[in-house]
Amino acid sequence: MSKMRKIGVLTSGGDAPGMNAAIRGVVRTAVYNGIEVMGIRHGYQGLIAANFIPLTSESVSDIIQRGGTLLKTARCEEFKTTEGREKAFNNLKEAQIDGVVVIGGDGSFTGARIFNEEYDIPFVGIPGTIDNDIYGTDYTIGYDTALNTVIQAVDKIRDTASAHNRMFFIEVMGAEAGFIALYSGIATGAEAIIIPEVRGEAGSLKAQIADGNRRRKSSNIVIVAEGDEEGGAFALAERVKEDFRDYDVRVIVLGHIQRGGSPSAIDRVNASRLGNAAVEALIDDQKSAMVGILNDEITLVPFRKAVKLHKDVNRDLVELAKILSV
Ligand code: F6P
Repeated sequence: MSKMRKIGVLTSGGDAPGMNAAIRGVVRTAVYNGIEVMGIRHGYQGLIAANFIPLTSESVSDIIQRGGTLLKTARCEEFKTTEGREKAFNNLKEAQIDGVVVIGGDGSFTGARIFNEEYDIPFVGIPGTIDNDIYGTDYTIGYDTALNTVIQAVDKIRDTASAHNRMFFIEVMGAEAGFIALYSGIATGAEAIIIPEVRGEAGSLKAQIADGNRRRKSSNIVIVAEGDEEGGAFALAERVKEDFRDYDVRVIVLGHIQRGGSPSAIDRVNASRLGNAAVEALIDDQKSAMVGILNDEITLVPFRKAVKLHKDVNRDLVELAKILSV
């Protein structure tokens, strides 16, 4: 017999399209199993301030297709303190919440891991970040939608770049990870892709551009992950301009447009699966672990591993991008 009578659910860190689908997956699975659900608003801040709202099956109607998060989100400094976590624990006890589902990225899981070392209310995580940079899962909620947003934007920029023979440096999100840059770069036929995982690429960029010029390319698209070693698209464009003074170079930072919008089919389905799996994990007495998807199967990864180990980009794809941009 499961100990779960009532669970909490929160979204934390940067929002990602599909978070609502995950909340719905959590609530409907809980209801199906006779478990009550409390929504915790504004992430860990709401846990510390006891900002709870009961969620029913009806509360999550008509949200699977919406971006953002019904529960709001935040990056919370106070949960990093022992006092903050103690307040959170007391509020959970008071509300008789037996377990919590945290939808967020590795920062959110670090907080959950520490909480579970100190207190016996189990936390289970769902990977939700457009960056796709969490170890132990092929997939994070929002990544697919963000990628599609980026490729639509880059395709449009390509039209005008070709019309004017211009070079565009396009900065995409990924503070410490190049997944969005690498995949969108391949999908849009970018001439170069600059990501934090591959060092020293900026050095060979000028040679690559000169080579493209010789082959009379009518436009150049360079996708830059925001966390690249050069300091982003503006810094890189300045360096390149020094050597190509007659080239018309433009810079675009796609920014938060990448975090919004209606989730793709993949994000809706996978977020629903993960929402369901997280509740089942709590029912099975799991704690301090994240549910993920590896080779299309649901997996359970300890928070300790998910936050400590680094998920690398597929090096074959880095090579492929180079081959295909000749
Ligand atoms: O973690 C997701 C992410 O979108 C990163 O790609 C980006 O660097 C960061 O969040 C931006 O966060 P904020 O909206 O808090 O500035």
